[in-house]
Amino acid sequence: MKKLFLLAFTILFCKVQAQEAQIKIETQNTALILKAAKNGSLYQAYLGTKLESDFGYNALSKENTKSFVINDGNPLVNLRHQAYPTYGTENLFESAIRMTHNDGNPSLELVYVSHNTAKIDGNTTETMVKMKDPVYPVEVTLHYKSFYKENIIEQWTEIVHHEKKPVTLYNYASSMLHFDADQYWLTQFHGDWAKEVRMQESQLTSGTKVIDSKLGVRTNMYQTPVFFLSLNAKAEENSGDLVAGTIAWSGNFKFAFELDNKNSLRISSGINPFASEYSLQPGKVFTTPSFIYTFSNKGKGQASRNLHSWAKNYGIKDGDKSRLTLLNNWETTFFNFDEKKLTDMFADSKTLGVDLFLLDDGWFGNKYPRSGDKSGLGDWQATKTKLPNGIGFLMQEAEKTGVKFGIWIEPEMVNPKSELYEKHPDWVLKLPNRPESYYRSQLVLDLCNPQVQDFVFKTVDDIMQTNSGVAFFKWDCNRMMTNAYSTYLKNQQSHLFIEYTNGLYKVLDRIKTKYPHLPMMLCAGGGGRTDYALLNYFTEFWASDNTDPFNRVFIQWGYSQFFPAFSICNHVTSWGNQSIKFKTDVAMMGKLGFDINIKELKEKELKYTQDAVANYKRLSEVIWHGDMYRMVSPYEETRAVLMYVNESKSKAVLFSYTLHPLYDPQYNAVRFQGLDPKKTYKIEEINIMPEAKKTIEESGESFTGDYLMNVGLRVSSSKVESSVVLEITEI
Ligand code: DGJ
Repeated sequence: MKKLFLLAFTILFCKVQAQEAQIKIETQNTALILKAAKNGSLYQAYLGTKLESDFGYNALSKENTKSFVINDGNPLVNLRHQAYPTYGTENLFESAIRMTHNDGNPSLELVYVSHNTAKIDGNTTETMVKMKDPVYPVEVTLHYKSFYKENIIEQWTEIVHHEKKPVTLYNYASSMLHFDADQYWLTQFHGDWAKEVRMQESQLTSGTKVIDSKLGVRTNMYQTPVFFLSLNAKAEENSGDLVAGTIAWSGNFKFAFELDNKNSLRISSGINPFASEYSLQPGKVFTTPSFIYTFSNKGKGQASRNLHSWAKNYGIKDGDKSRLTLLNNWETTFFNFDEKKLTDMFADSKTLGVDLFLLDDGWFGNKYPRSGDKSGLGDWQATKTKLPNGIGFLMQEAEKTGVKFGIWIEPEMVNPKSELYEKHPDWVLKLPNRPESYYRSQLVLDLCNPQVQDFVFKTVDDIMQTNSGVAFFKWDCNRMMTNAYSTYLKNQQSHLFIEYTNGLYKVLDRIKTKYPHLPMMLCAGGGGRTDYALLNYFTEFWASDNTDPFNRVFIQWGYSQFFPAFSICNHVTSWGNQSIKFKTDVAMMGKLGFDINIKELKEKELKYTQDAVANYKRLSEVIWHGDMYRMVSPYEETRAVLMYVNESKSKAVLFSYTLHPLYDPQYNAVRFQGLDPKKTYKIEEINIMPEAKKTIEESGESFTGDYLMNVGLRVSSSKVESSVVLEITEI
């Protein structure tokens, strides 16, 4: 019977594998070409700048397979560039998928069956390519969504089977891309708490380089899930071919860059399969997260602009809407506050001119009040001794003062010293027969468990139901998984990393459905969570607890490569002893906020800050939604210069940050970018301390875009840790 069944499948699938096909996935400037060979093998024939006509794509098959063909008599079988290479048959390199079948057979072969392309809207197209194993009832569908105007491709994979019992998946990449170049330069973004997204570029050498996370939760603490891969030379800001890639997955991720014996590179991206064999039930679809990428033939700058505009239109919750400026109390009070202190700060928010007051950690817990980080986490009721009139009262007082009210939560975590833990000790991730493992005195709740998912959803829902005016949430996550074991998952512990992440998405889906436009900041003990899957539910993210403006220039520079300004929260705080001007000017490069005691500001400083907030509000549309041009990198000089230009090129804002120059630096003129050469622009230096002189002599003068972009201006101050902000207006 079993043999008959297999035979039927063999006949069925052998029939479909005879087709050849050419599949074109295109954006405005990029093309990804897949081809199905005569024997059904699907391979990547091209990824790069879009060609003028199909003539070029038709010619590709000959050109691209020359040196790679395995000599089986079929000139189109390009095993090295398979679109989704499997394990167990002829593939000698990294595989995208590896599985064991019911009969113990550890191999998979995929042959092309069909494809179809559908227009989703005027800008978005989705192509699906179906493949099957000719022998086993396993089906893999490759999905490609292309965003025409933004030049972004989003790629993911679905795996399903109809064997009698579950199959085991050992690898399940979202994508595999292939490149042929003389050299490959990888830029990675790594760090630690307070040192996020350090950019480091290195040339790939033979073998495999892996960038991954195994942290389970707060997964980006050491590695941000983004990379540039530059072809033939180091990545430049305005020239050269490169790919910018990121994975929309908030759990463990993995990018593997394998350079083979013929100097071909393959990049696999997806969930990190580390300690995560997945037992897939018959008929159940395993959907990988999306790998999101852009190909740029104009260097990193264009790649970033592509990603920014995609994020605005598709990638980030309410990306096209405005954001709230705010005053946060964390660094002013830490856990030590009461109603009086907070209501005073509402007034401070109003004085500053920001939109919202954000109440941070320390407002909850009664049996075990949250007076420090050792207790109370999980008990989301306001501490009566501290806040006798509850959150509703605070919210109303804030509203009376004319500012909105936002609140901090960390709903995935629990302190053992909490009522939640006493009631539900089985809701935490912890190993049997071993001691509990704490980090910041807390444990991770088991989001695989639907009851825990309900609890986390209710944390937000209860706050919103009793205080419907809460206008903002900061969602924190201050530890990684260690000694992790889910009581709920029983004997399927290798599903933990995946199911935790899916559980989190289920909760966030419910929140987004019920409160679709609630602004929410994603935070993870600094920038430990920065991925485009979570940003689908969050309007912005906390980039780092390090707010020293000198360090911050590098951190913001790093994030700006992949994330738009409106999503990167920058607060002016007491970290660093630089001037309030330098701190504020640096924070204005992204989404501006404050976390200072404004009563400690001198009169002039307060006046400066109020003016800067007003300037920011006037210019925020350009900063948030304009095109970003990075002109001088802090990695290359002792200063950083960048600008934002609005779509109609009528308004721009330029920021110049002088860092630690040697004595009397002779900074060259900086050529502006992104302006209209034919337009005339007035240059105005703004954000000046009261009674201080302007730095830029040309402030108040007018120039053509042509002049500014070809001759440029000297825009940088020579003083250590100083800044210049220019408003550029078409006249
Ligand atoms: C870590 C965050 O990064 C901080 O901004 C602050 O919210 C603390 N957690 C509160 O515990």
